[in-house]
Amino acid sequence: MTAEQQAVKPNMQQPSHETQKYGEIVKLPNGLSEKVCKESVALLNQCLADTITLRDMYKKHHWQVVGPTFNQLHLMYDQHFEAQVLLVDILAERIQLLGGIALAMAADIAETTKIARPPRGREPAAVQIRRLAEAHEHIIVEARKAAKAVDESGDDGSNDVFVSNVLRTNELQVWFLTEHLVAASPVAS
Ligand SMILES: [Fe+2]
Repeated sequence: MTAEQQAVKPNMQQPSHETQKYGEIVKLPNGLSEKVCKESVALLNQCLADTITLRDMYKKHHWQVVGPTFNQLHLMYDQHFEAQVLLVDILAERIQLLGGIALAMAADIAETTKIARPPRGREPAAVQIRRLAEAHEHIIVEARKAAKAVDESGDDGSNDVFVSNVLRTNELQVWFLTEHLVAASPVAS
């Protein structure tokens, strides 16, 4: 191989190493202390793991739903999935802009989330909705606590994410979901 050829050949022997460990903060000029950023990042990462889990539960149910309301639920689940996708990006980028490291990979999410794992198999629509609503409620309760904590530490941006994005989106989706569980609904079992 000539020197010119060698110069353009991709080097696939890159050594694996981390430039920032998970949990470490790279201090950025944002007027917040490293301690405050670290505390906010921990709360945001827990919310991120739970949000990714809920996002994926929506896709599972989108694929597996059956019954007389198939089309309605199939479409609603995907609308809610898309809104959760946006939340995931808002949370992850908030973590990064605070100098932290956002969780990303499925195995790390599975280890971190507090949302109960659903079975691999198919469940009735009413059970799908109940599971989703419980996951939402968990995220809502934790988002309210996190919003207060970051407000008290002076991290107004994270407070806005927890309230304006996470809380408001999840509250709205709970409403849409649970109206399907009234006695008159063909979904209710
Ligand atoms: Fe689809």
